[in-house]
Amino acid sequence: MERTLIIVKPDAVQRGLTGEIIRRFEVRGLRIIGMKFLQVSRELAEKHYDVHQGKPFFEGLVKYITSSPVVVIALEGTNAVAAARKTIGATRPNEAEAGTIRGDLALEIGRNLVHGSDSVENGQIEVANFFSAGELVSWPRNTDPWIFE
Ligand code: RTP
Ligand code: MG
Repeated sequence: MERTLIIVKPDAVQRGLTGEIIRRFEVRGLRIIGMKFLQVSRELAEKHYDVHQGKPFFEGLVKYITSSPVVVIALEGTNAVAAARKTIGATRPNEAEAGTIRGDLALEIGRNLVHGSDSVENGQIEVANFFSAGELVSWPRNTDPWIFE
């Protein structure tokens, strides 16, 4: 099944929005298969945001994601990547629709609260970057037949 990596970013943790953000993915129907609280190292940040190396905002982005603890969550579900991105909303919170996490709770691109993998391939890669195999739990959720057809 499709996997996506969610990062509840430092601003969200500092603002006490961790529960609110997890709730939105949970009620969407996505299944949690891994979750942990950590401070991202510079090395891991550079790996995660490798595609943005050399861009003018890269240094600020690494500083932001490593500045304070985050919660990382591995989610599974049908169309998990696209579903999570829709729930998160547009990268620029001023362009994000009301009803999305960024559209409801954020104002600026550099404080946009949450990360979600942007492709099916990256979902697999990013989950593996943040979780060892032993930290992921494969479990049949009792509600699965009521969410996955
Ligand atoms: P994310 O990776 O965090 O889920 O966000 P995204 O896919 O919506 O956006 P992406 O293009 O991957 O950019 C990653 C993060 O870099 C910061 N950013 N700042 N100042 C800027 O122009 C700029 N552009 C991107 C944002 O924090 C964005 O979430
Ligand atoms: Mg991205």
